[in-house]
Amino acid sequence: MERSGTILEIRDLKTHFYTSEGVVRAVDGVSLDVSAGETLALVGESGSGKSVTAMSVLGLVPYPGRVVGGAALFRGEDLLKAASQKMRDVRGKHIGIVFQEPMTSLNPVISIGEQIAEPLKVHLGMNGNAAHGRVLELLHAVGIRDGERRYRDYPHQFSGGMRQRVMIAMAMSCAPELLIADEPTTALDVITQAQILDTITRLARESSAALMIITHNLGIVARYAHRVNVMRSGKIVETGAAERVFSHPTHPYTQQLLDCVPRLDRIKRGK
Ligand SMILES: Nc1ncnc2c1ncn2[C@@H]1O[C@H](COP(=O)(O)OP(=O)(O)OP(=O)(O)O)[C@@H](O)[C@H]1O
Ligand SMILES: [Mg+2]
Repeated sequence: MERSGTILEIRDLKTHFYTSEGVVRAVDGVSLDVSAGETLALVGESGSGKSVTAMSVLGLVPYPGRVVGGAALFRGEDLLKAASQKMRDVRGKHIGIVFQEPMTSLNPVISIGEQIAEPLKVHLGMNGNAAHGRVLELLHAVGIRDGERRYRDYPHQFSGGMRQRVMIAMAMSCAPELLIADEPTTALDVITQAQILDTITRLARESSAALMIITHNLGIVARYAHRVNVMRSGKIVETGAAERVFSHPTHPYTQQLLDCVPRLDRIKRGK
């Protein structure tokens, strides 16, 4: 697949929440970019604006929030100016999304296979047979064995880790240019976390997709990310190659984050 260069370029993004207590500047002038084949981590304490940054790009900012400034150029086109129909096409087809809690994103009364087939039919116009075959390939790619049988299973018959694999299969089904994973493994045990992240990064690498991982977990950043953006109070306070940020943080807040993770230097790197 021919994929190179900058996929997403966020410029001076500002997203505010208009609450009864006043205006909350959740995202306050964020600029960052992600290139094809690259894994970018967005880290920072709870409430720093990581998820709202992703939501803004995806056109999913909840009320009473509003994007009030900036640009989110996806292959040069500003998504913040795109019509809602266009954004529905972008989400799922060009940008895959994996969130923390798959149970809330999966429909409990539709079989796993049918749910993964849905974007293939909607975005790629596949017929039932073609979609079925592709779903079996996807189940295999994300490490779900016995795909023919599991196709007909329902979400409650899957463990948390398996449901997250289903979400990855859905997110990658249309071979998106960008995958955004927001705390994709927070609810899972350590071994399952590693397997899921290995799967996400492998699939992204195989399709030369850009990957943006949002996480609190600096161990994940050290192991998987090429570059890191550190976020605090709606702003990026530090950005750079993951190695450099870990070895020579320039912002005191990054140092504070690192101080909370003892023995980080001993975490095995596997990218
Ligand atoms: N629905 C909302 N109403 C009002 N303010 C909100 C709302 N959602 C988010 N915010 C504000 O936006 C800020 C950033 O939230 P966001 O969810 O992006 O944080 P985060 O960095 O993803 O945190 P976490 O690591 O806990 O997921 C919050 O501190 C909060 O003040
Ligand atoms: Mg969040």
